[in-house]
Amino acid sequence: MSLQDKVAVVTGGNSGIGLATAEEFVAKGAKVIITGRNAYAVTSAAEKLGNGTLGVTADQSSLADADRLVAEVKEKYGKVDVLFVNAGIGAFSPVSDVTEQAFDAIMNTNFKGAFFTIQKFLPILNDGGSIILLSSVNAFTGMPGSSVYSASKAALNALGRTLSAELAARRIRVNTVNPGPIVTPILSKAGLDDGSIDAIRQKFAERIPLNRAGESAEVAKLVAFLASSDASFITGAEYNIDGGLTVHKLVG
Ligand SMILES: NC(=O)c1ccc[n+]([C@@H]2O[C@H](COP(=O)([O-])OP(=O)(O)OC[C@H]3O[C@@H](n4cnc5c(N)ncnc54)[C@H](OP(=O)(O)O)[C@@H]3O)[C@@H](O)[C@H]2O)c1
Repeated sequence: MSLQDKVAVVTGGNSGIGLATAEEFVAKGAKVIITGRNAYAVTSAAEKLGNGTLGVTADQSSLADADRLVAEVKEKYGKVDVLFVNAGIGAFSPVSDVTEQAFDAIMNTNFKGAFFTIQKFLPILNDGGSIILLSSVNAFTGMPGSSVYSASKAALNALGRTLSAELAARRIRVNTVNPGPIVTPILSKAGLDDGSIDAIRQKFAERIPLNRAGESAEVAKLVAFLASSDASFITGAEYNIDGGLTVHKLVG
């Protein structure tokens, strides 16, 4: 119960990695708040998580929603110990096909929204707290069609490093997690059909040394570790969790 009675916020906690992490936080004794845009999905996930989990419908790309979220969390819990900035979207197309609307949608959720979510939570984040940013191996690889998504994630990694230094005086630790392919609904939400998703997964599996995509629960365990005092000397760090995908084998 390494998060006993800690108050933990998970943005994008109604699905995939966020939901699995919320489950892990609850299992470790935390009081959890989850967010998402889909009110029904947020309410159902909060009920399923149990243990008094609070679901707040809030769009990470909206600064007004961030203000409302922080106000609600402050009113119900006072302070926060853990902030897991996980909400994110993907959309993939060649650079020549990227519209301004698609560019803004990704950057506003994945980066601008993440930035202001942190800024607005800082006044109610306890000294000694933990912030975890959910990035991607896309932040430092060159997957064709992922220009905007990858840039949005690289910006998060830069933010994590900078904030780890800025917030050290308050003993707030800031770390970044870079998953490789994880089985979640993100690709179907990005508009890919089942056949294309299977083909992508197959291609990834062939390239991943451990020969499979990861599970959300595997990422959740790493995030829960970074959230806890077991990781008390870890800040400004980045962790790949990708089955070895990004290791350059050089030979073989
Ligand atoms: N799956 C992978 O292979 C993979 C790999 C590397 C990194 N990631 C990253 O992992 C994070 C979680 O993704 P996932 O794979 O678990 O996908 P997912 O199942 O689609 O979960 C995304 C979550 O974010 C929420 N969300 C999306 N846009 C939001 C917004 N504007 N405001 C608030 N909540 C929002 C979604 O809820 P609503 O739809 O209700 O808003 C959902 O709860 C993302 O940042 C993604 O980029 C995923």
